Amino acid sequence: MEYRRLGISDLSVSAVCLGTMTYGQQNSEAEAHAQLDLALARGINFIDTAEMYGRGRSERLVGQFMAETPAARAQVVLATKFAPLPWRLSPGRLLHALRESLNRLGLSRVDLYQIHFPYTPVAIETWMNALADAVEADLTRAVGVSNFSPSQTIRAHAALARRGVPLASNQVEYSLLEREPEASGLVKVCADLGVTVIAYSPIAKGMLTGKYTPDNIPPGMRRRMYNRDYLIKIQPLIDVLREIGQTHSDKSPSQVSLNWLICKGAVPIPGAKNLRQAQENFGAVGWRLTDDEVARLDETSKRVMSNE
Ligand SMILES: NC(=O)c1ccc[n+]([C@@H]2O[C@H](COP(=O)([O-])OP(=O)(O)OC[C@H]3O[C@@H](n4cnc5c(N)ncnc54)[C@H](OP(=O)(O)O)[C@@H]3O)[C@@H](O)[C@H]2O)c1
Repeated sequence: MEYRRLGISDLSVSAVCLGTMTYGQQNSEAEAHAQLDLALARGINFIDTAEMYGRGRSERLVGQFMAETPAARAQVVLATKFAPLPWRLSPGRLLHALRESLNRLGLSRVDLYQIHFPYTPVAIETWMNALADAVEADLTRAVGVSNFSPSQTIRAHAALARRGVPLASNQVEYSLLEREPEASGLVKVCADLGVTVIAYSPIAKGMLTGKYTPDNIPPGMRRRMYNRDYLIKIQPLIDVLREIGQTHSDKSPSQVSLNWLICKGAVPIPGAKNLRQAQENFGAVGWRLTDDEVARLDETSKRVMSNE
């Protein structure tokens, strides 16, 4: 397993993080535990949850696993998130929410506490002071943001720096089919500030696996955006992912897509509906695309996405 430092914090995280958004909803307790067991066995130590996922059910399932698995507490770098919802906008509510998350997780401290999204009516500095208070109260080892733009990231970083706390990470949607973090300059801003980009929806909610095709569009809400026309448009990219994967001992399109993010310096968080998917996603680590392959994927993804 490859590990990297999260920002300039003292957290060492696996190059791939396990997303748990579906735990307690589409993933049963047994399924969630099996995925977490497998993650630890494979050296994946970075686990991401949030109070919003299943209204606390994801945190509870992760907490149960940690309580039942003595090795887990020593190994796991656990990240969760505060949602700044309109009815709880004071900094004190962040600390209260963090204590509730800790109760569900059965921990006295998390490793990374993130603000789930910016809520612009409240100044970024106000939230960053609350996050710094959480570090001072020893309720979290490091802090991060999520869905922050380049300018919001710069402000968050500066506000925390005034309190002597580094901004460890910014978790944003980033994949071969969502390159906005590159186009907006966010990836560069984070690199310059020493902030790790954590990439969510890194296989574009399943679209980069190659299993969805113009004749097999995804079920549920996803089919609105990822319709037949969209799937026709992205097929050239899927073909290139397959071709490149074959030259790396038959890596799958998902594995190549995740490895592309690792090559960009990001830590991807794939989610999985079952153990087979989790196993496949963990196989994105331990090998590297060449610079030429990264450039070819850059160019192909740009071409298919500009083909509106
Ligand atoms: N900070 C934020 O605002 C935010 C927002 C969203 C997500 N996240 C985080 O990011 C994580 C992942 O995001 P995501 O679930 O939106 O997107 P994703 O990881 O790109 O896609 C996950 C979905 O793709 C399919 N899949 C995954 N691995 C597969 C494989 N190897 N083979 C075939 N299909 C596979 C599964 O759905 P099907 O089998 O149904 O196709 C799975 O639910 C979440 O768990 C959460 O931790 C954060």
